[in-house]
Amino acid sequence: MKLSKAVIPAAGLGTRFLPATKAQPKEMLPVVDKPAIQYVVEEAIGAGINNILIITGRGKRSLADHFDRSFELEHYLKRANKLDELNGVIEISELANFYFARQPEPLGLGNAILISQSYVANDSFVVLLADDLMAPESTVLREMSEIHSKTGSAILALKEVSQDEISLYGCVGFEKTDDSNVVRITSVVEKPDLRTAPSNLAIMGRYIFNSDIFSYLAELKPGKMGELQLTDAISSYLENSEVLGYVFTSGRYDIGNKVDYLRTNFEFALNRSDLREDFLVILKELSDKYL
Ligand code: G1P
Repeated sequence: MKLSKAVIPAAGLGTRFLPATKAQPKEMLPVVDKPAIQYVVEEAIGAGINNILIITGRGKRSLADHFDRSFELEHYLKRANKLDELNGVIEISELANFYFARQPEPLGLGNAILISQSYVANDSFVVLLADDLMAPESTVLREMSEIHSKTGSAILALKEVSQDEISLYGCVGFEKTDDSNVVRITSVVEKPDLRTAPSNLAIMGRYIFNSDIFSYLAELKPGKMGELQLTDAISSYLENSEVLGYVFTSGRYDIGNKVDYLRTNFEFALNRSDLREDFLVILKELSDKYL
């Protein structure tokens, strides 16, 4: 069955980006000239998904506004004959069918996904974490979707990270399969310390699940940081069902902390033909001045 539903949890408080996130969601911080979450939505659409549920929380109304029509702005742009901008603004609301649900309390990622249960119903679905951006040309989600449609198994995106980074991620134990990009996951642990990490393969914020994950999400007890962790639900799910990992090596950007966020902006700008040349001149000036 073709995947048609995505869930994007966006209820986090964004404390790492204060004061920028005091009165706006971190998912609305721009990467070059688009809010970060729009890249994630476009990635889902690129993988053929046309229903998108965004899990929000208090203070996150601008997320729903961004993906809705904006008649006042459209009226103004039309009158000012700014037709490219007008079409751009209308297109955002036509990207997909958008749904919104609120997570009443910040109880953790596992709890946020549980809120999507009635929307997902009995279908398979994709989860995309908005702190991880994929390069526009990335095929990771499409490859995962193909593996899911062949095997019917849950599948996680995995990438090798260095030893000092492993405790920032969910980490997997695994067995190889005949396909060099695909592993069979044997264990998962959320943010292990280096000594107990089962490998250096980390979970990268893209998941495909069957709806039977919900019974494990509903049973969750507080885990790492006292939160209901998605990784812990995957760990219980593994006892009864197959979970695969799709291993990729490049094209993933972290926007969950300031330095990586700045790097992402630089790289996305350098990959834009309309900005690259002017921006390179500025980078050269900056490197002469500071390096
Ligand atoms: C979350 C997940 C973690 C995963 C990571 C990917 O952690 O809990 O398993 O590896 O996203 O970015 P967070 O970064 O939200 O703390």
